Formats: sequence, C-alpha cells, structure tokens
Amino acid sequence: MVLTVAVLISGTGSNLRALLDATDDPGFPARVIVIGADREAEGLAHAEAFGIPSFVVPWERFDSREAWGAELDAQLKVWNPDLIVLSGLMRLLPHDVVATWSPNIINTHPAYLPEFPGAHGVRDALAAGVTETGASVIVVDDGVDSGPILAQERVPVLEGDTESSLHERIKPVERRLLIDVVRRIAEGELDLGARPSPN
Ligand code: GAR
Repeated sequence: MVLTVAVLISGTGSNLRALLDATDDPGFPARVIVIGADREAEGLAHAEAFGIPSFVVPWERFDSREAWGAELDAQLKVWNPDLIVLSGLMRLLPHDVVATWSPNIINTHPAYLPEFPGAHGVRDALAAGVTETGASVIVVDDGVDSGPILAQERVPVLEGDTESSLHERIKPVERRLLIDVVRRIAEGELDLGARPSPN
C-alpha cells in the first residue's frame, strides 16, 4: 500500500519539490496527494506542475491561531492523509491540530535540533558562531521543534558563510533526510505509532 502524504508550506517549496520528484517515481512507496499553505506561497506552483491539488488557509483571515488551525484541520480531513509533512510551514500548529494528527506529522528544520529551534535556525547558528550546524527531521509535538528526532545530520559552517549560503548548503541535506524518512515510514521500517482514536 502506498503512503499518502499532505505537505504544508509557506515559502518557495524547494524541499517540497525534491519530495515531489522522489515520489513521482512509481517505485517510491509514498504519494503526495495534496499541498496546503498558509498564504499564496510561491511553492504552490510545484503542485500545479505535478497536477496535485492544493489549498490555502490564509493566516491573516483568521482571528486566532485556533480558528486558523480548525480550518486547516478541516481541509486536511478532506484528504485524510496517512502523513503530514511540514516543509517550511512557518507557523506553529495549534494544540488541537497536533492532537488530531500526532504522531503522523513531521517537520524539517535547518539545524541540528535541539540546537537552534524556531523560525531562524540558520541565522541563530551563524550568530552563535558555531563551526557546525545541521539538518533535522522530527515528529511535531506541541513545542517549538521539540518533538522526537527521526533523522539528523551535521553540516559545517564555512568561513564567510551568510545566512543564505549556509541555508542553501543545509537544504540538500534536509531533502535527502526527508525523502529517506518518508520512504522508511512508508515501508514500515520507521513506526511513528498509531493516531489516537477520535473521541
Ligand atoms: C527549510 O529549510 C525548512 O527546514 C525551513 O524552511 C525552509 C523551507 O525552504 N523550515 C523552518 O525553518 C521551520 N522552522 P523551502 O521552502 O525552499 O523548501
């Protein structure tokens, strides 16, 4: 059976694109069935290119994180994916959404967690003056990038690195880790556990 995946983005979706390229191979055990965003993200163009449905739940149209999350949850339930991948979604999910889908929500992060969580993982690593940072794929929990780590790898910080040059070196590592984690989940090699039954 093929694992069905929903991907949520906010930005250019270059990691999403890599996942789409991988899952486009008929031999890959997972399929992206829908792509969602919290804004008219540039990366939604990849959905169109691959003929995959997409939806936007615009953050600014809701009064609260909870109201935004309820609509996001409703959209996700239309598709009922086996797995949700946050691939550059720059919003914290409200508790109810995490509780509904956990542990089948994973997130990519451009740092070696628990180092440098949050929205500016690359910038924070540079500011700290570390000689290496990394990339991580984690299970989403109620905290900020605090869930169980599924895969991670170190990436060196080079002399003269800017936030952008470092991020561009981290992203290919994130992509490789993400694709591998999705494959391992799909093949049953990595068991995230069952979703709690709805009450
Ligand atoms: C990726 O590096 C992802 O890990 C990061 O945003 C980038 C999205 O790039 N996410 C976070 O920092 C979440 N805390 P992309 O839109 O080009 O795939």
